[in-house]
Order: sequence, then structure tokens, then C-alpha cells
Amino acid sequence: MSGGDADAQREENANAPRVAHLLPRIAHLFRPHRRALVVTVVLVVVGAGLAVLPPLLTKQAFDLGLFAPGGPNVPLLLEIVTLMIAIYVASAALGVWQTWFTATVGNKVMGNLRIQLFAHLQRMELAFFTKTKTGIIQSRLQNDVGGVANVLTNTVSNVLGNSVTVVAAFISMLILSWQLTLVAVVLMPVLVIAQRRVGQVRARIATKTQESLSDMTAITQEALSVSGILLAKSFNQQAAETRRYSDENDEQVKLQVNLQMSGQWFFAMVQIFLAIIPAIVYLVSAWLILGDVPITAGTIVAFTTVQARLMWPLLGLMRVALDLQTSSALFARIFEYLDLRPEITDHPEARPVDTANLGRVSFDDVVFAYPDSGPESPPTLRGLTFEIQPGQYAAFVGPSGAGKTTISYLIPRFHSVSGGRVSFAGTDVRDLAQESLVSRIGIVSQETYLFHATIGDNLRYAKPDATAAELRAAATAANIHDTIVSFPDGYDTVVGERGYRLSGGEKQRIAIARVLLKDPAVLILDEATSALDSISERVVQGALDAAASGRTTIAIAHRLSTIVAADVIFVVDAGRIVERGTHDQLMALGGVYAGLYREQVRSARS
Ligand SMILES: Nc1ncnc2c1ncn2[C@@H]1O[C@H](COP(=O)(O)OP(=O)(O)OP(=O)(O)O)[C@@H](O)[C@H]1O
Ligand SMILES: [Mg+2]
Repeated sequence: MSGGDADAQREENANAPRVAHLLPRIAHLFRPHRRALVVTVVLVVVGAGLAVLPPLLTKQAFDLGLFAPGGPNVPLLLEIVTLMIAIYVASAALGVWQTWFTATVGNKVMGNLRIQLFAHLQRMELAFFTKTKTGIIQSRLQNDVGGVANVLTNTVSNVLGNSVTVVAAFISMLILSWQLTLVAVVLMPVLVIAQRRVGQVRARIATKTQESLSDMTAITQEALSVSGILLAKSFNQQAAETRRYSDENDEQVKLQVNLQMSGQWFFAMVQIFLAIIPAIVYLVSAWLILGDVPITAGTIVAFTTVQARLMWPLLGLMRVALDLQTSSALFARIFEYLDLRPEITDHPEARPVDTANLGRVSFDDVVFAYPDSGPESPPTLRGLTFEIQPGQYAAFVGPSGAGKTTISYLIPRFHSVSGGRVSFAGTDVRDLAQESLVSRIGIVSQETYLFHATIGDNLRYAKPDATAAELRAAATAANIHDTIVSFPDGYDTVVGERGYRLSGGEKQRIAIARVLLKDPAVLILDEATSALDSISERVVQGALDAAASGRTTIAIAHRLSTIVAADVIFVVDAGRIVERGTHDQLMALGGVYAGLYREQVRSARS
């Protein structure tokens, strides 16, 4: 082997995930269905046991019935034929029953795998989603799990059924003539080796195919969403998008053809090989008979019948082995996601939020760097210390990119701090149960997200058992009730993909209503009024002020007019708090805040 070949070989071993490695895990997926599997095994074994009989009966039919020494023995022949028919009917019925079992188990296993993956992904930290394309994640869930469906549904019955049939066939072949059996199996090892090789190649192509498929899903996801279409249309990029898709599509077509073709020569070879065995059997039989081995016409007919019946199960087994190898790439991709450890989890002694100090939020020398920002770049938050008392209205202001949204994400522990500590109700958030912590916090984020569902459903997301009166109260408080009832379908109006059917301001007010329904101890408003005109802003601001009473409110604002009345204002710049105090104090200080405020007042007047 030349050096280059050795390299190629190594690379191939690294790329093709080993089936043996994955098998225990795949088997583990079937654990909950042990009982059904046992029934399947019984059915399969009984079915295969039945399959041994007909060839032996064939021999009897020939040697004792048809060509009996004194002419055909019709009564015996009739008995044999009836028995054969009964056996075929019984095995067909068993087959249907067994298929029902395996289809049920296989699909349930696949369904569970999908749920497991989905639930696992839900537990992943926010950062995982900010750095992974949505389409790529979707593709694992749909294409990869879908890709192994065939293996999960058919493998068990295939392997069981076919191996028992093959073993049974071999037994009957051995009973008929061990010499002829030897002829039939002598070439098997070649097939096994060839099959392994084909399997490796297919696994590699399968990996590429799934990668390309997930790229395609990502493109579809990006380009065919409302925002994607808007972007493409407004930049005249439709042709470019189509090109991007069609390039990836060409790749996909090529890979699919490769994948389908990769096993064909192998199977053609197997078929030819299996088909010529009878011819060889005739030759060898002649030679055996000449050598005084007792071989009857019945033996030869029965033997070639069994051998022909062996062909499909054998091909089936090889196909399963190939499928397993091919789908090992897919299984590896699924398990890779299942093995991701969520970075933010509850530790064993995590406790619920202490209700005594509800509403207190404090940062103690908090340093935070986004995981995917470069090591040289300075952290996003650089030593932040502040405390917000229960019931206070606190505001964060500062230039774009200063880190205001980032601060708001650290309170519900969507990200974990790199240094220092964030406390909620007097406890380090790392010691709190996530669910309890998050249930106390309401966020109206900078980018409002609504589900493609009715307005009512979107509101109820915060409180599934909310009554119509509660919905109405929340919507009224957010100054959106009148708008909602003006729609023909009222609260049953479907908001459209990501809420695109609504105006920016309407969406924002629905988001506010949604969070009011949650009634959290701490309300975080990330520029909650930014999409409103100044009249609605005043109305919504009034609603927000009312909502803010009795709870801690943290408002992030660009328009300083909205936070003049705040109990405390923190001016953030480049990840630090550079000024703090009330509006009057900061104005008196004459620093950054005072400058920003005067600037905004001036531009509002002009
Ligand atoms: N997921 C992320 N990964 C890496 N860096 C990020 C991520 N999100 C934000 N950043 C960076 O962190 C910094 C602070 O972002 P942040 O969203 O907190 O700013 P902001 O003060 O809310 O700005 P704006 O007023 O424009 O909303 C920015 O420089 C931004 O580029
Ligand atoms: Mg922001």
C-alpha cells in the first residue's frame, strides 16, 4: 500500500462512524419495547421454523410421491400438498402479524428519538442557538431522524426474519446434502468483504448528503421566511437566492445519485453469484453421483429450491448491514446532538426563589464575554456592580452595543457570567432552579416574537389557563384591546408568521399584554416602546407605569424621555456603568447622560 493509500484509509476510518460503536446505543433505543420485541422474535422464529419444512416436503413429494417405485402415490402426494399449502398460508399470516409489530415498534422508537432530541435541544443554552443556524438544527430533527426511520422500522424484523430464514435454509441444505451446501457457501466470504467496503463508502456519502441537505434546509429557512423574502425583494436578490439554492441542490442531486449507485455493482454481483449456483450445483451433482454419493432428483430440486429461496433473505441481510452502515452516519449526527451538554443547568441543590426578597436584583462585579467572541476582544461586560431594590423602577441607557440587552439576559441566567455574580432575590442565580427563576421574570424583548397562531393563543402563552376576562384586562392595560376587537376575528385573529400581519407597534403592545398576563415580580422592558409613535408611546408608557407599580421594573431605553421618572438610571458604556443616579442628579452632574438628554430634547424640538 502506498503512503497516499494509507492516508486515505486513515481518513476514511476517521470519517465513517463505526457501526459497532453505535449498535449498543441503537439497541438501547429499543429497550422500552422489550415485550413487543420478544413477541416479534417468537413470531419470526415460528415463521422461520415453518419455512424449513416445505423444501423437505418437496423432496418427499418427488422421491416418495411423484416418482415412487410403483408409480405416483397420489394419496400421499395429496397429503403433502395440503400440508405445504397450510404452511404457506400460516407463514403469510404470521408475516402480516409480525410486520404490524415491527412497524409499531420502529415508528415508536423513531418518534421517541425525535422527542428526545427536541426536548434536549430545548434545554440547550441560548448561546447554542445564537451560534447555530436554525435550519441546521431543524435538519437534524427532520432529515436525520427521518433518514434512520427505515433502519428503525425494518431492521429488527429484517435481521431476525432473514437470519432465521437463512439459518433454517442452511439447515435444510445440510440435511439434503452437505457437499452441495459447501459449493453454495464457498464464495460467501468474498461477499462479506465486498459488502464492508461498499458500506464504508456509502456511510461517507451519506454524511455528505445529510450535510448538504441541512445546508439546503438552512437556505430554505432563511430565504423563504417573511424577513428573508423581504430582504431578497428589497435588494433584488431573488435570482441570487435561487442560484444559491440551485447550487446546493445540484450537489444534493449528485450525492443522491452517488449514494444510490454506490451499492449497485455489489448487489448485481451478489445476484449473479446467487443465480449461477444452481447451474454449478447440477455440474457438481453429476460429479458426486459419478463418485457414488447418493443424490436423487428430489435432492437436487429441493436443494435448488431452498437455495433460490435463500437469495432474498441473504440479500435482505446484506442490505440491512449496508443500511446500518449508511445510517450510522445519521445516527452519529443525532447522537452528537444528544450528547451536547447544556451549559446552563440546575445543580442538584438548586432551590426555588426566596419570596422574602422578591424583586431585588443585584450584580456584583459581573464580567461577561460571549463564548464565540474572540479571546483578544474585551469582554462585553467589564465589572458591573449595581443593586436594584424591590419595587424600584430602574433604567439602563447608553449607546448601541454598550451591553444593555446582555445585562438583561444575565438576570434570568440565559447566559452564565464569566466572573462575579448575579443575584436574584438575594440568591446567586446559579443556586436557583431555572424554572422558578424564570417564572418570576417577565421580558419584553427588543425583537418581539409571536407564534403563527391567534392573538389569544399568543397571549395565553404566558398563562395557559388565562380566562377571557384576564386576556381582555391585560390587552386593555397594554392599550391594544381596542385594536384587537377592531379586527374581524378579534382575539381569534391569526397573527401570521412571526406576527408579520401586525404593525410593529401592535406586535409590541401584544408582547406587553403577554408579559402582563404573566404578572412577574421583575419586569424587563428592552426598548418596549421603541416601535410606537409618540402618542401611543404615551398611552403605553402609562400602561407600563401602571404595570410597573408593585414590581421591580428594569427598562432599557434609547428615548430618555420615557425614563425621566425612574428611581435610578444607570448609564452603560462599553460594558461598564459610567454614571448612576436619578434624572435630576445626572443632569446636575452634567456628564454623559446630561449630554445625551440635551441632544435628544434638541432634536425632538427641531
Ligand atoms: N450572541 C452574541 N455573540 C457574540 N457577541 C454578541 C452577541 N450578542 C451581542 N453581542 C455583542 O455584545 C455587545 C453588546 O450587545 P448588546 O445587545 O447587549 O448591546 P445593547 O446595549 O443592547 O445595544 P442596542 O442598544 O443596540 O440594543 C455588542 O458589541 C454585540 O456585538
Ligand atoms: Mg439591545
